[in-house]
Amino acid sequence: MINVEKIREDFPIYQKQPNMTYLDSAASSLKVKPVIEQINHYYTTLGVNVHRGAYDLAYETTVLFEEARANVAHFIHAESEEIVFTRGATSALNMIANAYRDVLKPGDEIITSELEHHSSILPWMMIAKKTGAKLIYIPLTETGRITVDGFKSVLSDKTKIVAITHVSNVLGYLTPIETIVSLAHEKKALVVLDGAQSVPHLKIDVKALDVDYLAFSGHKMFGPSGVGVLYGKKHLLDQLEPFEYGGEMVDQVTKTDATWKEAPMRLEAGTPVISGAIGLSAAIGYIERIGLEVIHEHTKALHKYTLEKLKNVEGITIYNPTAENPVIAFNVEGVHPHDIATMLDQYQVSVRAGHHCAQLVSQFLGVSSTLRASFHVYNTYQDCDRFVESVIAAKSFFLSF
Ligand code: ALA
Repeated sequence: MINVEKIREDFPIYQKQPNMTYLDSAASSLKVKPVIEQINHYYTTLGVNVHRGAYDLAYETTVLFEEARANVAHFIHAESEEIVFTRGATSALNMIANAYRDVLKPGDEIITSELEHHSSILPWMMIAKKTGAKLIYIPLTETGRITVDGFKSVLSDKTKIVAITHVSNVLGYLTPIETIVSLAHEKKALVVLDGAQSVPHLKIDVKALDVDYLAFSGHKMFGPSGVGVLYGKKHLLDQLEPFEYGGEMVDQVTKTDATWKEAPMRLEAGTPVISGAIGLSAAIGYIERIGLEVIHEHTKALHKYTLEKLKNVEGITIYNPTAENPVIAFNVEGVHPHDIATMLDQYQVSVRAGHHCAQLVSQFLGVSSTLRASFHVYNTYQDCDRFVESVIAAKSFFLSF
């Protein structure tokens, strides 16, 4: 049984904002004390570069940084050399797409979906334009789900890349990724999985999933912003054309040419995100101490409880009542989502309104935008009650005119 009051003590923001009802963790989670302490430790006691210096501080920093890589690898059941630290999930996904600019040919197909958040689709859209490859969308079910049948209907010998979300950031639906990966591999296509929303909530085993690439961010899992992870199978990363060139990624340089190191170094040009990586490692340590299963059970229970209450409020459209991830996408009939979100803020309830960096989802739903409430480990049943009560109050306020 989870003790949320105790957990809240680990998130210093609650000391400053004791009455805050934070329901926007899908955009960014709150930050946990060990992460802040570890970043502080780096800046106050180390603060130097990695991989370069012959002095003690540099050695100690390098050890901490490489330990972070090992911890991330262990967390998703990868090898250390398969972990590249990036600026975030977005830069990881751009890095992969950019590397296939010289690989894809006219007529090749890239399968994706309308459920992608922009970082999982725009890099491929641009690469498709440059290479003459075609972007193909998996037909969604009526409720907006990706299914194996939908995937099969677009998979072909022309498929080279499958760029797909593991969990939709707006609808919280889980993609049946295991079967999709095995079908894609039968056609020798590579699978690039956007794990930005899944890694903070579900136990991920990249070996069991057999995905070729996985991208996720630190800031959605209690870690710092400005750090993300690109996982790739080692033999693929070793072939991946670097997105950036510079220090420490290079092997030999002449006046006219250069060769690159093996992964992950070849993909971490310049000074890497040292404090970010160390902070992310501390976030992973915290998650592992609580247990992802425990977190998932807790947020699932809150999600279910809130859905039941919200369903009973007249004039609310819920777009994803069967979501696997703890996310509720909804609208109040007759009121713009931004107005509701602004009103909820008066009650110190934070939700996101808009298209959630996933405009194709709004288009699929046939609306300009939606509201989204998303839960994490620090949320309580009281948060759920306050949320529903404030939605009712906001609705009454706007519909009373
Ligand atoms: N960070 C974006 C979100 O709110 C994509 O889901």
